[in-house]
Amino acid sequence: MRGLSYPTAVLLATAASASIVPANSTNNITWPYQTFKTISHHTAEPTDNAYLFFAPDGPKAKETAPLIMDMHGELIWNGPTTHAFAFGTQIYDDEPVLVWWNGTLYPEPIGRGNGVVHMLNHRYETIRTTTLAGDFLEQVPGASFPSNIDVHEVFITKNGSMLVTANNVTQADLTSVGGSKNGWVVAALIYEIDTATNQILFSWNSLDHLDQLPFTDSLYPIGSEGYTGATQSQAWGYFHINSVAPLESGYILSSRFLCTALALSPNGSVLWRLQGRSGGDFALGPGADFCYQHDVRAFPSSSVSNADSSTVTLHMHDNHNSPIDNNTVPSSGKTLLLDLATRHASLTHRYINASGPVYSTAQGNFQPLPNGHVFIGHGWIPILEEFSQTGEIQTTIQFAAAEPRAGGGFVSARAPTLSYRAFKQD
Ligand SMILES: *[C@@H]1O[C@H](CO)[C@@H](O)[C@H](O)[C@H]1NC(C)=O
Ligand SMILES: *[C@@H]1O[C@H](CO)[C@@H](O)[C@H](O)[C@H]1NC(C)=O
Ligand SMILES: *[C@@H]1O[C@H](CO)[C@@H](O)[C@H](O)[C@H]1NC(C)=O
Ligand SMILES: *[C@@H]1O[C@H](CO)[C@@H](O)[C@H](O)[C@H]1NC(C)=O
Ligand SMILES: *[C@@H]1O[C@H](CO)[C@@H](O)[C@H](O)[C@H]1NC(C)=O
Ligand SMILES: *[C@@H]1O[C@H](CO)[C@@H](O)[C@H](O)[C@H]1NC(C)=O
Ligand SMILES: *[C@@H]1O[C@H](CO)[C@@H](O)[C@H](O)[C@H]1NC(C)=O
Repeated sequence: MRGLSYPTAVLLATAASASIVPANSTNNITWPYQTFKTISHHTAEPTDNAYLFFAPDGPKAKETAPLIMDMHGELIWNGPTTHAFAFGTQIYDDEPVLVWWNGTLYPEPIGRGNGVVHMLNHRYETIRTTTLAGDFLEQVPGASFPSNIDVHEVFITKNGSMLVTANNVTQADLTSVGGSKNGWVVAALIYEIDTATNQILFSWNSLDHLDQLPFTDSLYPIGSEGYTGATQSQAWGYFHINSVAPLESGYILSSRFLCTALALSPNGSVLWRLQGRSGGDFALGPGADFCYQHDVRAFPSSSVSNADSSTVTLHMHDNHNSPIDNNTVPSSGKTLLLDLATRHASLTHRYINASGPVYSTAQGNFQPLPNGHVFIGHGWIPILEEFSQTGEIQTTIQFAAAEPRAGGGFVSARAPTLSYRAFKQD
């Protein structure tokens, strides 16, 4: 616990202990908050062993900080005032650690950042700061950053390396999509970094794979939201990388704007593409479609080898209600079974509260819990949910005002309070 006084801006109501706090005010809802002053060493012992890890952010967040709370909404730890994207626990060197991203954030519609990853031990002491130096351009001409790790991913592998994403604004021939010969795009990159030395172990750049991942596959047409690719500041973010994780001895990536999960071999070659609308290299079974998805991982996500390599189980947060869907399909957690031999993708489970569907434009995550339950963070919309393995809603947790949707559920607010990802951990 920190020995300082911090106001916190979080109200948590769980369906398990009480009814959900109604989010029926889009105006000046004042969320109850508590102020804590540590007067002596004291540790609360919650009756439920689980804790929530999330990090309120966005224009209306009362405080932008990593938070740990118990399942009754009591504050356990309030970290520093900082962006804390991907805040949660991971295993490093056989010990649990806290990680988060902070840096220069360019919010939506850019939705990228250049920063560092902080790693803290169980005494809240910083033990690693993972950085990515180099010659990276952003959409602001002349801007440069001491470190260029993107906001979207922090994944510590079993051997202690870290997988992260990055972006580089660069020039490319955009004539295939009606742009200029010397247009500006945002290249999507992944890096595997040695956390002990910050040396780069592996890197990959989407522009080296335009034969399999062409500009024409983007569902975010050139010119969307003014990103015409005509100048550096209008660089077209055609790919929008938002996750990377191990798959066998290679990697699995998520591209929001290609609506694609793609597998890389250890040398970076593209092994297969699962496109959420057309299927890509797969045929999609009923309900297996997805788009604008986040947090694509192979299950179990910690394993890097799989005895039965003819199938892969993926899970993701399927945002789906992208601008191109006009809020017609709600977001949900999905698990998909891919048969690599027959190239068929089938839906195994969908995790959604049909009585209160969430239409999250961006962000969000899918966390499989040890008991088989699934914990879902909805990113842009400040609602977290727990489901049974087969998809029954167990608990809803809301930590800020959410914009109600005509006809039920919640839509993405223009100025949200968000948590990029959220986790439940024992
Ligand atoms: C919200 O609160 C602010 C400050 O208290 C006030 O100026 C504003 O008029 C309020 N807006 C609404 C819609 O009530
Ligand atoms: C977060 O990153 C920004 C931009 O690099 C920096 O100015 C700020 O000091 C950082 N905050 C913390 C708490 O590390
Ligand atoms: C493990 O570390 C080595 C370097 O020591 C690196 O080359 C390799 O890619 C890493 N693999 C995984 C899956 O973590
Ligand atoms: C980023 O793009 C610039 C301009 O094309 C290039 O000079 C630089 O090497 C690129 N950086 C990386 C890390 O790929
Ligand atoms: C990269 O790996 C793929 C899949 O294992 C293999 O087919 C290809 O030949 C490799 N490419 C290089 C340049 O080694
Ligand atoms: C979304 O709305 C636009 C503009 O009204 C329309 O052109 C498009 O067909 C709609 N898409 C869907 C999936 O409803
Ligand atoms: C499902 O959503 C509805 C509407 O938001 C809510 O009233 C209900 O409590 C939720 N179910 C659970 C178990 O959280």
